[in-house]
Amino acid sequence: MTIIRGATTIKNDCKEEISVAVKELLDEVFSANGLRKEEVKGFLFSLTTDIHSYHPAKAARECGYDFAPLFAAIEPEIQGGLPLCIRLMLFTETDKAVRHVYQKGAKVLRKDISEILNIALDGPAGSGKSTIAKIIAKDYNILYLDTGAMYRACGLKALRQGISPKDGKAVEAMLPSLNLKVEYRDGKQRTILDGEDVSSTIRENAVSMAASDISAHACVREKMVEMQREIARGMSCVLDGRDIGSVVLPDAKYKFFITADSRVRAQRRFEELSARGEKVDFEKLHAEIVARDKQDSEREFAPLICAKDAVVVDTSSLSVEEVVAKIKRRIQAEI
Ligand code: DC
Repeated sequence: MTIIRGATTIKNDCKEEISVAVKELLDEVFSANGLRKEEVKGFLFSLTTDIHSYHPAKAARECGYDFAPLFAAIEPEIQGGLPLCIRLMLFTETDKAVRHVYQKGAKVLRKDISEILNIALDGPAGSGKSTIAKIIAKDYNILYLDTGAMYRACGLKALRQGISPKDGKAVEAMLPSLNLKVEYRDGKQRTILDGEDVSSTIRENAVSMAASDISAHACVREKMVEMQREIARGMSCVLDGRDIGSVVLPDAKYKFFITADSRVRAQRRFEELSARGEKVDFEKLHAEIVARDKQDSEREFAPLICAKDAVVVDTSSLSVEEVVAKIKRRIQAEI
């Protein structure tokens, strides 16, 4: 007995989409494997818990796949699983090498047979890109690389050493001793500077401007970009930053530029910092965000720009869920 595996996703839990997705999946499994009816011994479908509107076995029978036993079951719900997903195990008797079929975003389930999926999310501070990137990475079960954290760690190192992050010469001299590592624990990025986990410290407001200042130096960018490319080369990931689509991964298949009105962004940062117990003045924060935008956009090396082929998403009046849905629709349409 040989098993051919397949999976697909739908955008909405409705009968029509389930029927179309099941038909497209089965048609492709049959054509990719040159299967004949009599070779097939059974179909087993599984569904994620968010699908209720129709039975995939019924959908299969209705489009002519009624010549072998059909069965469907609900999968246990797991955190980070791909939502609205229909999977298939087709039992067959064939000696040929089989081709598994993963459609509409379900490819991310099979890192072994899928291409590396790199998603670039660029945009200014407070645009919501890190929130969005984390959700997308979780839903697709891929890594999230927060590149801003790396520049923040560089800025922190300079501050700790009493070096001005604006002083190019001093920063260049500091770089050989920069011991920066990005690690993942329980799926979360930890930024390790000189052996210390600084993931929380680098979020302090004082570090934000130092990160922006230090990120303007070509020597810093070269080092960070090299590390980021190395990580992205090896595995599927969502990267957020300022220059991902333009410099780090200009060939990334999926590029988004996430933006929002500066006051909306300042309000988000205000809430984030207040929740962390930092006392901040809204107007001062707004002025800092505007200054950081200007500095990040006007710097000579790899400034914050929207890559020509990036999809612009203005999050000013959208909820997180709406932004995520918009981005995922775009990705799943192309996968
Ligand atoms: O995204 P963030 O606010 O954590 O980033 C901190 C600073 O790092 C930001 O002001 C600009 C810089 N940065 C960059 O120059 N390139 C990136 N890819 C990411 C961040």
